[in-house]
Amino acid sequence: MHRRRRRLFRPLPLATAAALVAVAAVAVPQLTPGASAATTLRGYADGRGVRIGAAVGDTPLTSDSSYVSVLDREFNSVTAENAMKWDALEPSRGTYNWAAADRLVNHAVAHDQGVRGHTLVWYSQLPSWLKNGNFSASQLNTLLKKHIDTTVGRYRGKVYAWDVVNEAFNEDGSMRGSLWQTELGTGYIANALRWAHAADPAAKLYINDYNIEADNAKSDALYALARQLLAQGVPLHGIGFQSHFVVGQVPASMKANLKRFSDLGLEVSVTELDIRVPLPASAAELARQSADYKLASENCLGVKRCAGVTVWGVSDTYSWVPGTFAGYGAALPYTEHYAAKPAYTGLSNGVNPKA
Ligand code: XIL
Repeated sequence: MHRRRRRLFRPLPLATAAALVAVAAVAVPQLTPGASAATTLRGYADGRGVRIGAAVGDTPLTSDSSYVSVLDREFNSVTAENAMKWDALEPSRGTYNWAAADRLVNHAVAHDQGVRGHTLVWYSQLPSWLKNGNFSASQLNTLLKKHIDTTVGRYRGKVYAWDVVNEAFNEDGSMRGSLWQTELGTGYIANALRWAHAADPAAKLYINDYNIEADNAKSDALYALARQLLAQGVPLHGIGFQSHFVVGQVPASMKANLKRFSDLGLEVSVTELDIRVPLPASAAELARQSADYKLASENCLGVKRCAGVTVWGVSDTYSWVPGTFAGYGAALPYTEHYAAKPAYTGLSNGVNPKA
């Protein structure tokens, strides 16, 4: 088990940081400006009190030291790419496998990184015993509550935000016909948020989805639901915008759309950013991708309650994109050999408030 020590994210106050810089400039005048760790993504993010995160797979975490050194140098937040999904945690009923999730949480604690929990209620990556179990509504309700109590409870104080509900909507704004929606009705969302809040009152609780970055039917439906949940006093704290983009297609309405959620008093976060390009990636497309990384990250960080930006992987080596979107790839800021791509510079300029 982990220690139950609580870690809170406390960025260095800007005044203190400025004072330290001033002292350093006097004491060590030969310091090269721009050579400090402040020029990393996490240096910039720490400086403005936001998160820059990466989705982390258990394989690279445990087997690829180049990956891990980039992860720890550049990112102050991690999301388990798969290890906290229900099929990974409870492959057979009542038998839990916490090993990979614990490894990531322990790694994060050891490297001063926050953890985004992903994800508690989703239609996908459910264990087959659950999917095919023909459970009644009341049994499913009990199973879902137990899953949330157990999972959120285990990492209480160590996960700063949870994607409680993932991908609940169809593109036209209707509710997706998931197991949960079909058997329990839309009320499962409020229940899941309430249970998660009871299990860890300090964690920020999110609804997360894709294709909600633009102002469109899907984001309108989510906006209506979010307003309703807030009016009912349901503990909803944030909206996660996955942001799996195609190069050249960062929506023009993204910033205004995030702002309308922020104006409800909700946090907004970009939670799964990647920007895929047609393969083989040309220099022109990689340059366009760089501009898109800057734009997408600024679209969040320029909004009042943006808590941060997470990219869905570190290097193109392990990205889910080529296996999911035929003909596309090269979606992340680092090459397969851990060279920073133009996309890295774009992201860095988006996160650096002075760029
Ligand atoms: C993806 C992972 O990256 C893959 O490794 C896995 O095979 C499937 O799931 N939206 C989400 C993420 O919320 O959990 C998905 O992650 C990508 C789309």
